[in-house]
Amino acid sequence: MRVGYVQFAPRFGEVKRNVGKAIALMESEKAELWVLPELFSTGYLFVSREELRELAEEVPDGPTTRTLLEFARAQGVTVVAGIAERAGEKVYNAAVVVGPGGFLARYRKLHLFGKEKLWFDPGDLPLEPVDLGGVKVGVMICFDHFFPETARTLALKGAQILCHPANLVLPGMGQLSMRVRAMENRLFTVTANRIGREARGGDELRFTGESQIVAPDGAVLRRASPDGEEVGVVEIDPGKALDKRITRYNDLFADRRPEFYGL
Ligand code: ACM
Repeated sequence: MRVGYVQFAPRFGEVKRNVGKAIALMESEKAELWVLPELFSTGYLFVSREELRELAEEVPDGPTTRTLLEFARAQGVTVVAGIAERAGEKVYNAAVVVGPGGFLARYRKLHLFGKEKLWFDPGDLPLEPVDLGGVKVGVMICFDHFFPETARTLALKGAQILCHPANLVLPGMGQLSMRVRAMENRLFTVTANRIGREARGGDELRFTGESQIVAPDGAVLRRASPDGEEVGVVEIDPGKALDKRITRYNDLFADRRPEFYGL
């Protein structure tokens, strides 16, 4: 299965331009599963809930999800993309999963970072992998990487690939922890991080790039530059993520001792 990330710099508020850019980048290479960055269509640094509500879209009926659906149908691919989702009075930092057969799933970020807490509602959906014709993928967004429970829950529920739309700002951290998430759960991870800088409302953020694809042993199969617009595609065998053994005697899932964790 060919999996890929798209790394670019969305321009704040320029939804049409950003969606067009992401599609052009996906058209530049062949993959079966694409991951786009967090909030890829809107940009990241909102300054009010009103501004966020204006740029957020309904899922799956909003224009961005519909455009991605058309692309997925036409190209026969699956796309996981981070978008701002408006649902009645609520607004979520969300991700959609669309495939050749239509809309597949949504995920709403559980662990909000920084000022996201001021503007977004926290995610309210259980972590559930999505079945892509026999391959299970899990979705988590950016800061979720700091909470190993996110990846672990998806892995215990059968996820073989973690799709990770991101707007990482703490240099090296998400790249490191996603290697650990891959290693401790014996699965593949695809992080699509953005690049560039946003300065709004008195804040300035620099996004760290280095999108990456990681193997179940923690090896980095592909990593982007810190500041380039690029796609990265790797052929993987998702079946490898079904084997949780790390030695003849150790199976990472069978060896768990939940009766002693006392959670
Ligand atoms: C982040 O969660 N966007 C850092």
